[in-house]
Amino acid sequence: MTSGSWEEFFAIHLPPPDFEDNRSLLKEFCERHEHYGNKIVLVTSGGTTVPLEHNTVRFVDNFSAGTRGSASTEYFLEHGYAVIFMHRQKSLEPFTRHFTGQKLLDMLDIQERGPNTTITVKPDSVDVLAPILLRYKAAHAAGAILHVSFTTVSEYFWLLRAACECLANLGPRAVLYLAAAVSDFYVPKDCVPTHKIQSESGPPIIQLHLVPKMLAPLVNLWVPTAYVVSFKLETDENLLVPKARAALEKYKHKMVVGNMLQTRHHRVIMVTPDATQEIILTREEVHAGVDIESSIVLEIVRAHAEHLRGAGAGAAAG
Ligand code: PMT
Repeated sequence: MTSGSWEEFFAIHLPPPDFEDNRSLLKEFCERHEHYGNKIVLVTSGGTTVPLEHNTVRFVDNFSAGTRGSASTEYFLEHGYAVIFMHRQKSLEPFTRHFTGQKLLDMLDIQERGPNTTITVKPDSVDVLAPILLRYKAAHAAGAILHVSFTTVSEYFWLLRAACECLANLGPRAVLYLAAAVSDFYVPKDCVPTHKIQSESGPPIIQLHLVPKMLAPLVNLWVPTAYVVSFKLETDENLLVPKARAALEKYKHKMVVGNMLQTRHHRVIMVTPDATQEIILTREEVHAGVDIESSIVLEIVRAHAEHLRGAGAGAAAG
């Protein structure tokens, strides 16, 4: 089973219907922040799907709730970055991630007095809601965050390439933080049936093909001077660091953040060409609700600053 080239993938898969609208949004966002000399990070978040039918009832999914990407976005904003938050539709989003399920409704009181109904935040919830609401309002008022969403793996790649084309002008001021869980397998368009697969026809035989690794053109062609961080998800501890190192050697980007499925919220390993650094939250930190993303982002902000100094020195020498 061989994977076709990335050019072939784009030739086979048409852009999604809302692609031009998203491309305009990305272009406007990048041009505005480039004009002000801001740094921009592209955060990808959530899992991609591979539809098994054109009128999709069934699909293959990649696991990711969107916790990593949505939490990291909040910390990048705190560090003064503008953020393109490219996420799987209906996965966790920055700020609202704190109020999943019934949490927000449980924070509210309602008084019905005739035609006048008032809704208020319960006094003991104000301290929880206020700081998050303030950060949310500030990010949006400053135009510091852009949301774009995908569902399928081909929608993901169309958006990813468009975002890179817009980020290319920022050169080393752009960071790519590729936390989305991206499918390595897909069913080519021609092999996908139009309608729901019927069980009367017996068990379906579905052949998955390899998706080309987009990190290759991304690093070499689309954003060659950006600070690119990829993520590596494994379930076998023995593979984690060797595979992270192999990815760095193969794609020649800046960092791989390795994580195990079961421990990803309290342990990561950050691998660069020269070093390996582990971040582990203590039991107390986990209990206190500390986000491991605050430490991951802090390290990346530091590494990016160094990358910018290097790029500045390179430019001065050149
Ligand atoms: O959202 P959470 O529930 O918090 O979970 C977070 C996470 C575990 C999903 C996240 O931390 C993570 O590890 N994301 C990357 C998962 C993944 O896709 O790993 P991978 O080994 O399949 O791919 C490695 C890298 O190659 C990825 O950065 C991906 O962008 C890239 N890739 C993958 C497939 C492909 N066809 N082309 C690519 O370039």
